[in-house]
Amino acid sequence: MRKKLRYGMVGGSLTSFVGNVHRQAISFEAKADLVAGCFSTNEVANKECAQFYRVDDERNYADFHEMAKKESIREDKIDFVSIVTPNYMHYEIAKTFLEEGINIMCEKPLCFSVEQALELEKLAEESGVLFAVTYSYSGYGMVKQAKKLVADGEIGDIINVNAEYLQEWLIDDIGAGDESTTKLSIWRKDPKYSGISNCVGDIGTHIENTVAYITGLKLKKVAAVLDSFGQALDLNANMLVEFENGAHGVYASSQVCVGHANGLVVRIFGTKGAIEWHQEEADHLYVTRKGFGTQMYNRGMGYITGRAAELNRIPSGHPEGLYVAFGNVYKTYINAILKKINGEILTESDLDFPSVSDGVDGVKFIHSVINSNNNNSPWTEI
Ligand SMILES: NC(=O)c1ccc[n+]([C@@H]2O[C@H](COP(=O)([O-])OP(=O)(O)OC[C@H]3O[C@@H](n4cnc5c(N)ncnc54)[C@H](O)[C@@H]3O)[C@@H](O)[C@H]2O)c1
Repeated sequence: MRKKLRYGMVGGSLTSFVGNVHRQAISFEAKADLVAGCFSTNEVANKECAQFYRVDDERNYADFHEMAKKESIREDKIDFVSIVTPNYMHYEIAKTFLEEGINIMCEKPLCFSVEQALELEKLAEESGVLFAVTYSYSGYGMVKQAKKLVADGEIGDIINVNAEYLQEWLIDDIGAGDESTTKLSIWRKDPKYSGISNCVGDIGTHIENTVAYITGLKLKKVAAVLDSFGQALDLNANMLVEFENGAHGVYASSQVCVGHANGLVVRIFGTKGAIEWHQEEADHLYVTRKGFGTQMYNRGMGYITGRAAELNRIPSGHPEGLYVAFGNVYKTYINAILKKINGEILTESDLDFPSVSDGVDGVKFIHSVINSNNNNSPWTEI
């Protein structure tokens, strides 16, 4: 019986942003060792990262094609690969590892086009590969508690959603043309690397996923107005949405809202009550039942139940934070792979991690928003 996994990583050199978050998140459970990687196309950065994590030279690959081929024929091959490169490489890398039957954790947005996303989903279904997409906010305990409250009918039927993801880090790019290329992960603003969207693809897609995860509702259509302020891609987006149950909502994502850092806020309104969650104080969940004052639920307390309680790590009052949210996604994903390898049946809660199908929904959302904006903002089917 296997108790531990081996994993590889594509992207995520020492100076990158999210690769390190993935490695820390995986290490919480000590159930997977990093044994292979193609951490960068830059030879020095690739080697440096491999040496830092004590990855053997022979498993430090210059190219991910070589990595997929060589790993798939090893007896001690990797059990999954984490794809943490900029958006433009996700599809090709994911397809390459899928073809070798290797389980995948891929960063969002899943890929550039809806066709590519559907192809990856189909390949994953056919091959039986466990394919996750790192919609990390779904890993927070209080997001899981919110999902449970909605599913238990505590706020009644959902009639309205108001959600935002506001940042300010690109404020100086307003009117700055192409010259403003000095910021973290500059590829985000270049369509060659980012795809058809910057702001919606980078953070708007987290709104879509977090709301879908909590409510279980699918989006039907969107109407959007975007601003790019002289840049090639959007920096600011205001979106009206309609869900399949007929409810409406407003989403706003922005990288130019002064005073905001990572302000993902989700407010769900139902016929019997409302819930509200703020990423920047992620351990709290605000719940209001019609006719009563607002209650604050605190992660880790005795009244927290279900998946939120299962995934709780430290006593309430000590903030767990983003690393733990990623860690919860990985904990569930790694356990699912272990169970699969050991021939056990996977339950619904074993599969409580964002999947390739969530990745497909994300890509469809991004395309519908951009299409709506490009056509003078009509309602646009997802
Ligand atoms: N889920 C989240 O909350 C979250 C947060 C941040 C970033 N992301 C996503 O993670 C991805 C990476 O973002 P980032 O900010 O870490 O970018 P980054 O620019 O900081 O890092 C990208 C890394 O990929 C490497 N790389 C690029 N092309 C490669 C290739 N062909 N082969 C091997 N390595 C390659 C680079 O050398 C670098 O190490 C993006 O898709 C982004 O949308 C998700």
